[in-house]
Amino acid sequence: MSFDRSIKIAPSILSADFANFGAEIQAIEAQGADWVHVDVMDGHFVPNLTFGPPAVKAFRPHVKTVMDVHLMITPVDPYIQAYADAGADVLTAHVEAGPHTHRTLQAIRAAGMKAGVALNPGTPAEAVEQLLDLTDLVCVMTVNPGFGGQKFIDMTNKVRRLREMIGDRPVHIEIDGGVDPQTAPLVAAAGADVLVAGSAVFKGGSVENPGVYGENIKAVRAAAESAL
Ligand code: DX5
Ligand code: ZN
Repeated sequence: MSFDRSIKIAPSILSADFANFGAEIQAIEAQGADWVHVDVMDGHFVPNLTFGPPAVKAFRPHVKTVMDVHLMITPVDPYIQAYADAGADVLTAHVEAGPHTHRTLQAIRAAGMKAGVALNPGTPAEAVEQLLDLTDLVCVMTVNPGFGGQKFIDMTNKVRRLREMIGDRPVHIEIDGGVDPQTAPLVAAAGADVLVAGSAVFKGGSVENPGVYGENIKAVRAAAESAL
């Protein structure tokens, strides 16, 4: 994975057909997705439960781009190797998931993956200030995690602050939650480069009608790029 700060659209398969992940992943990648965002939820850190390492391993052969795994779980450390074995390219842990995020990020990198750290809406940017040399991606949640289709919570000031703190380090700023053509320009202008979008990409489309996915991806990308 080479680093560049161009806008990347990472559809979240949380909004996909749960009975057809392989075909859905192939469809969004064929329709222009840059990354595939995989939302792992444990029903403990967040009030929802999705899937774990065996499912992520099954997704892997269908992902030709980047498998961006977002862990909404606690604890994280006991599962890092399982997600490395499952083929995650990026593995993101929540700073709120435990007291030793510094060690978690070291362990993710040691397992051969890019390390991400995620911040819930109530967590200040400063929470990751000491972690920026250990991370490849900061994920700014713009919804309270657990569900797709929620209303965007404006975090542009946090994004701007992070952009300042990161400086010229090769660290992506990812936005996750409520991203659509209306909200994408706000966060792109503030310095975000990876945009997760679930409902905004999957709405109105299907594996049988994937062109809608392509139109939705193009709309989010164009809106973000128009703000640069
Ligand atoms: C929420 C997940 C997000 C969510 C985004 O907990 O982390 O990735 O799926 O979905 P939308 O884009 O519909 O808000
Ligand atoms: Zn996510």
